[in-house]
Amino acid sequence: MVTEVDLILITGAAGFIGSNLVQYVLSKTNYNIVALDALTYSGHLASLAPAAENKRFSFVCADIRDAKAVRSVFEQSRPEGVLHLAAESHVDRSIDSPMEFVTTNVEGTVTLLTEAERAWKGDKSKRFHHVSTDEVFGSLGSTGQFSETTPYSPRSPYAASKAASDHFVRAWAETYDLDIVITNCTNNYGPYQFPEKLIPVVIDRLQRREPIPVYGDGSNVRDWLYVEDHCDALIDVFEHGESGETYCIGGESEVSNLGLVERLCDLYDELSGDDIGTSRDLIDFVTDRPGHDFRYAMDITKIRNELGWAPSVDLDGGLRRTVLWYLESQPWIDAVLSDDHSDFQERWYTR
Ligand code: NAD
Ligand code: TYD
Repeated sequence: MVTEVDLILITGAAGFIGSNLVQYVLSKTNYNIVALDALTYSGHLASLAPAAENKRFSFVCADIRDAKAVRSVFEQSRPEGVLHLAAESHVDRSIDSPMEFVTTNVEGTVTLLTEAERAWKGDKSKRFHHVSTDEVFGSLGSTGQFSETTPYSPRSPYAASKAASDHFVRAWAETYDLDIVITNCTNNYGPYQFPEKLIPVVIDRLQRREPIPVYGDGSNVRDWLYVEDHCDALIDVFEHGESGETYCIGGESEVSNLGLVERLCDLYDELSGDDIGTSRDLIDFVTDRPGHDFRYAMDITKIRNELGWAPSVDLDGGLRRTVLWYLESQPWIDAVLSDDHSDFQERWYTR
């Protein structure tokens, strides 16, 4: 358990989950935040705009692979806890360019661990929380669930790099006495997700009236968690999780990809006033992803029993909120696709 923590470092803060976590922390806790992000293609200052004026928030543009830059954040800001989210996160990109996943997800995590240990020197009141994925456990058949005791069996370069980073985090706890917790979560969805993952891709195609790519026959199953619920779980584990432990997080909302895409199509028709069913005509079955994991599902008994956490947003409600957010957020979509941060930079870098 961490006590009397004032300032936390959130890495990957300009990404999907990171930017939601920044908003969650500012509205639901008293922590000050130093946010660190390299602003790669998937991280944008536009996602942090709601936090920009908050006095409890500051931003550092830095790469977690850059030991000097990371050390300087620890020396200057003196964070008492780290929530580590920075990563290359997209499976399809990991198939095309695996090395970026090794350097950021593995070397970057080891760099952060090294600098945290150097700064904290065994002080157990400081905590390193590593945010990871259910994909480290591999792929399920049509039954069963992952849990904290499931052996690791990663199958994509993304999953392998996250698995390696999880192992390094545990090694730092054993070898250097660092206080750590790890969370492994199922697929997230909600506002601020870069339009390369399934749900924002579908919404984007619906708006453009272009074919919606469904890999294979669409029978692969994912368990979906609304991102705000994930943030809630992360803070619960950060504050109350037992040192050295892993907590599995999930939405208890399994659905096949085709089932999910059909729901999104119908929601879009309803919200845009078209006849229900019209958008389903856009569904396009395309070549499957190599090594496509069939099914993910999570047993969340441990976090439910030990920390009292459970998902609060059901899939229908969360999808509705998400579609509405994307329909109202064209300026954000334009900004993240532009790779231009200048509208936001001036305000923040002069602070
Ligand atoms: P994302 O791709 O939206 O965000 C990742 C962020 O990390 C971006 O802002 C990017 O600029 C930053 N980043 C990348 N390389 C960096 C580097 N070398 N140095 C500093 N910053 C760097 O990803 P996300 O979906 O928000 O995922 C965040 C974390 O949560 C990841 O660790 C991911 O593995 C994990 N996770 C994601 C999901 C999900 O469904 N999205 C589920 C479980 C776990
Ligand atoms: P994705 O959002 O990339 O997350 P992950 O691969 O980490 O689970 O994909 C979710 C599921 O949707 C996965 O089974 C692959 C599938 N998918 C499609 O069918 N079409 C798409 O365009 C994308 C991006 C994913």
